[in-house]
Amino acid sequence: METLSVLGAGTIGSLLVKAGLSQGYRVVATGRSERTLLRVKGLGAEAITDNASAVMRSDLVMISVKPQHFPELAKSIPRELWRGKTVISVMAGVRLDTLRKVMGGAQVFRAMPNVNAVVNMSTTAITGEGEAKELVDSLFRSLGVTYWVSEDMMDVWTALIGSGPAFISEIVDGLVLGAVSSGMPRDLAYSSVLDMLKGTAENLKNHKGHPVEVRDNVTTPAGTTIRGLKAMEERGVKAALIETVESSSRRASELGKLIDERIRRELIGED
Ligand SMILES: NC(=O)c1ccc[n+]([C@@H]2O[C@H](COP(=O)([O-])OP(=O)(O)OC[C@H]3O[C@@H](n4cnc5c(N)ncnc54)[C@H](OP(=O)(O)O)[C@@H]3O)[C@@H](O)[C@H]2O)c1
Repeated sequence: METLSVLGAGTIGSLLVKAGLSQGYRVVATGRSERTLLRVKGLGAEAITDNASAVMRSDLVMISVKPQHFPELAKSIPRELWRGKTVISVMAGVRLDTLRKVMGGAQVFRAMPNVNAVVNMSTTAITGEGEAKELVDSLFRSLGVTYWVSEDMMDVWTALIGSGPAFISEIVDGLVLGAVSSGMPRDLAYSSVLDMLKGTAENLKNHKGHPVEVRDNVTTPAGTTIRGLKAMEERGVKAALIETVESSSRRASELGKLIDERIRRELIGED
């Protein structure tokens, strides 16, 4: 049985532990606090604080600490231990080139799952090259669907797909409030909106064309839908959504640049 280690088994790391276990790996996971270690043990993995030992004992290493904690983590692991390992980082913003320089001799991938992994419906972007591609893909497929993308898509992915569940939750809340305002009990509105959302996603996928075609199919002249669409247009909902993803993506780039530069200064000695 191969060993997989998860360095930093927090929110996302715990999901990676579950993915590893479901794929039949022996899983060693690390954390600093008793709380993290207990949670990991509860999942069925071995829980330790020693990151170097976890790397030494594993073939596949997943890094899921917050990016700002990576320098401290990397300093606790002798560089020669990385040689020959397959490493997958889920840290936002830390570039492949930086990771390769810090972990010389390792085959490195970056993955960006989203919070829907809690219901095995993560939409995960993966980037990187190497013979372990299929193995990396199958790990993340156990948490949902995967997309292989070029690294320059990672910031907009972080905005659209990483923050997307927050944006959609906000839209759902608005729709529910509209129904409550029109006299529907909140529970009924909430539950039915979620079902409608799922149905609409399936319908759009099945349709394959442009979403406005599905929109136009339910838009009767002088009917109810066009009144609602007019209100959306007057309030600039579409412009707001475009701006939402654009500004979130810009922020992902800004934060990524800051953290990546800090890591390069601290670990590679670049000015
Ligand atoms: N949350 C998301 O939706 C999401 C989505 C995609 C990617 N990500 C990425 O996933 C990473 C983790 O995010 P998260 O939300 O899961 O954060 P989190 O819950 O804070 O988890 C980070 C974990 O790292 C552990 N840790 C920190 N320093 C450590 C060290 N030196 N040795 C061992 N363990 C250490 C912490 O353990 P203690 O608590 O015991 O100190 C904590 O459990 C981030 O890089 C983020 O960019 C997150």
